Amino acid sequence: MKETVVITGASRGIGRALAVEFAGRGHPLVLAARSRGDVAGTVVECDLTTPEGREKLLAASPAKIAGLVNNAGFATAGPFAEQDRMRERDVVRLNVEAVVDLCHLFLPRLQAGSFIINLASTAGFQPVPLFATYSASKAFVLSFSEALAEELAPRGIHVMALCPGVTESGFQKEANVALAPGYATSEEVAKYALKALDGKKRVAIHGTKNAFLIFSQRLSPRIATVKVARKIMEPWFKERH
Ligand SMILES: NC(=O)c1ccc[n+]([C@@H]2O[C@H](COP(=O)([O-])OP(=O)(O)OC[C@H]3O[C@@H](n4cnc5c(N)ncnc54)[C@H](OP(=O)(O)O)[C@@H]3O)[C@@H](O)[C@H]2O)c1
Repeated sequence: MKETVVITGASRGIGRALAVEFAGRGHPLVLAARSRGDVAGTVVECDLTTPEGREKLLAASPAKIAGLVNNAGFATAGPFAEQDRMRERDVVRLNVEAVVDLCHLFLPRLQAGSFIINLASTAGFQPVPLFATYSASKAFVLSFSEALAEELAPRGIHVMALCPGVTESGFQKEANVALAPGYATSEEVAKYALKALDGKKRVAIHGTKNAFLIFSQRLSPRIATVKVARKIMEPWFKERH
């Protein structure tokens, strides 16, 4: 019998698609979100912005697991000054604090051969105006995951930052932005994620175009990259739902 994979934000979108893929490989699942999804497994209804929600997830999970997927996350979009303060705070609590806390809580349950997947984003490779808190949260996840990957490699625990580009899911509705052209499906991202995990990638960028754009930024001055990011973000933000 294979060991369990714990997936946060598994009620829809990328998390749900990842749950389907891991179930297809025969893993039992522990699935966390505030609402129930439709994939079979031990469902834990919890709010992961809170320490209590994270401890509830830990308590419902087995003593040894195959992997932890920190997928739950959301974005706010628009000028920072106009955002609701509590929503901004919750982006950090869920996208940053919960990722650190859950990695720490679950680490004793991982052994050689286990993995952690943290959902970063192509938005984490540069600051994105009108997406300021979100892009910064994903920059954190990226940096944290790469550091952890190096620390945990001698123990045989693989850590991967999964970096999707624009992906069709509940994300756009939550952030109140339009779906940008050239988007991927959650299923495509999940299939790619498992292949990247098999290949022991530490930073897995979905989509050749996304990978190329990120690579090409390396030689650009930071200020130019920020201005281009704003130009890309503006129409997406203006075309609200
Ligand atoms: N879609 C994209 O374009 C894109 C691109 C790059 C990265 N990502 C990242 O991919 C991850 C998954 O997002 P998605 O696109 O699949 O969005 P989604 O469809 O909105 O799914 C988000 C998931 O997180 C759960 N969630 C939200 N708030 C939560 C909370 N407080 N406690 C527990 N669970 C919570 C949601 O369930 P409940 O609402 O039921 O709690 C849902 O299952 C996120 O980290 C996101 O930043 C997305």
